[in-house]
Amino acid sequence: MEVAILPTPADCGRVVADVLAATVTGRSAGHRPTLGLATGSSPVLAYRELIRRHREEGLSFAGVRAFLLDEYVGLPPGHPESYRAVIRRELTSSVDFVDSDVDAPDGSAPDPLVAAREYEERLRQGGPVAVQLLGIGANGHIGFNEPGSSLSSVTRVKTLTEQTRRDNARFFERPEDVPRHVITQGLGTISRAQHLLLTATGARKAAAVAAAVEGPLTASCPASVLQLHPHATVVVDEAAAAMLERADYYRYTLQHKLPHQPY
Ligand code: GLP
Repeated sequence: MEVAILPTPADCGRVVADVLAATVTGRSAGHRPTLGLATGSSPVLAYRELIRRHREEGLSFAGVRAFLLDEYVGLPPGHPESYRAVIRRELTSSVDFVDSDVDAPDGSAPDPLVAAREYEERLRQGGPVAVQLLGIGANGHIGFNEPGSSLSSVTRVKTLTEQTRRDNARFFERPEDVPRHVITQGLGTISRAQHLLLTATGARKAAAVAAAVEGPLTASCPASVLQLHPHATVVVDEAAAAMLERADYYRYTLQHKLPHQPY
């Protein structure tokens, strides 16, 4: 696992954008790269940077496919806080992504259990995801895999913890409007991506980042599953890195990256 500690959230956004852009531009002829996109606040600066590069530097997402990590259950289709609507608003409608090339679990399906199984199947057919972008919850969740999630879980319905509902209440009119259930890619599903790219900023994430990177591999910290992955990168600002014991080594490694050594 590589840990990149950068001075500011904007620097993190640029590095995350670099990795995603490299996947899109480095494609071989006839190959359609597949990105794993995340919602929440953490990826927003990276998405703004990608939109800037699209507008000013001609970065094109034409032909790229994307899968979202998760979705709320029970919001009506088109609800502004459904993750399908969020990703459109934050990224895909501002670049040349074809809307039908962006897939997400169907949280408004009559049977969410079936919708979860179908999404897992579409991920198997459409994968592997080249780069899966991830944020991290204050309790160490990735996607909506709350603590206790099996490290080899697949896409399924989960019940949110009250902490996660409170954390996400800022996006809804009233706290009670935050759905209780979600469909999320499992930790095993996420781990099938070729590259896991987790980003976190701010002091509120410091404990979760330290547990994920340096704590034990445990279902109690779902993000610790990155420790099992052959290609995982964690991009954090100084505040989110504050509780990392090996921070000096990570900084040293970054300073001494070989020329052209990618993340
Ligand atoms: C939500 C999302 C996660 C996200 C997490 C952190 O629960 N399902 O994918 O990583 O929150 O959110 P934020 O980036 O807004 O702090």
